[in-house]
Amino acid sequence: MTEKTQHAVIVGGSSGIGLATAKRLLGLGMKVTITGRNQERLKGAWHSLGGAVETAAFDATEPEEVRQFFARLGTFDHLVLAVSGGKGLGPFETLDLTDMSSGLDEKVRPQLSCLQAALPTLNKGGSVTFISAVSAQLSAPGVAGIAAINGMLLTVVPILAVELKPLRVNAVAPGVIDTPWWDFLHDEQRRAVFAEYAGKTPVGRIGRAEDVADAIAFLTSASFVTGQVLTCDGGLRFAA
Ligand SMILES: NC(=O)c1ccc[n+]([C@@H]2O[C@H](COP(=O)([O-])OP(=O)(O)OC[C@H]3O[C@@H](n4cnc5c(N)ncnc54)[C@H](OP(=O)(O)O)[C@@H]3O)[C@@H](O)[C@H]2O)c1
Repeated sequence: MTEKTQHAVIVGGSSGIGLATAKRLLGLGMKVTITGRNQERLKGAWHSLGGAVETAAFDATEPEEVRQFFARLGTFDHLVLAVSGGKGLGPFETLDLTDMSSGLDEKVRPQLSCLQAALPTLNKGGSVTFISAVSAQLSAPGVAGIAAINGMLLTVVPILAVELKPLRVNAVAPGVIDTPWWDFLHDEQRRAVFAEYAGKTPVGRIGRAEDVADAIAFLTSASFVTGQVLTCDGGLRFAA
């Protein structure tokens, strides 16, 4: 008997880690749907994947758009949540605490609202993978805000793994990864930050989107792994 093709949905799959994950899961023979807000970016991602994915444009911060997307989608097997904001970096003394609410609105709430909307059609034998960040596991100065935001996602993982069983619920916690997420920095600033983190990281380099895609692909297919956070940071957690 032939096995049914698994269908993975990557919310925030038009760039960076989500896009690399799409490529990786396609390579595993899955059907893949990627989403994002920007149509042009989605089109570029579709081209870069040889037209082998489905695409859908919606804003994951808008609950009604999220609800409509999942209502249209039909049943599927794996959900990867890559949506992000980017607020909350900087020394605590001068941290704008409204950035913490933005982080909640731009990253935590959309990831959770996608999972909620997906539950009726997400195969219970499948998986969900949140993308958090290693900042939530570091004791590094300057990450209190972003750590608080990402820590919320890490906190819910074991709870949801039990509450939503047998659906497997995991997260990856990436370190510093070279993706467009860092585009808020000028080239020179970005090079300096990457060089600094490469120096701090035990493996001697910063990460590539493909490194995290490998970790996500593992969590997607490891049918005896749930409630876990897989840190994918080249060892930064122990050195920063
Ligand atoms: N890069 C790093 O160093 C790093 C480190 C730790 C954690 N992370 C986390 O990894 C995840 C992926 O980040 P990345 O580095 O791959 O960033 P990226 O290249 O900027 O990709 C983010 C993706 O999310 C989509 N997106 C953002 N906001 C959205 C929204 N409201 N609705 C729908 N789609 C949305 C973007 O497309 P549109 O903009 O077109 O919507 C894009 O496809 C994020 O959660 C980020 O916080 C990244």
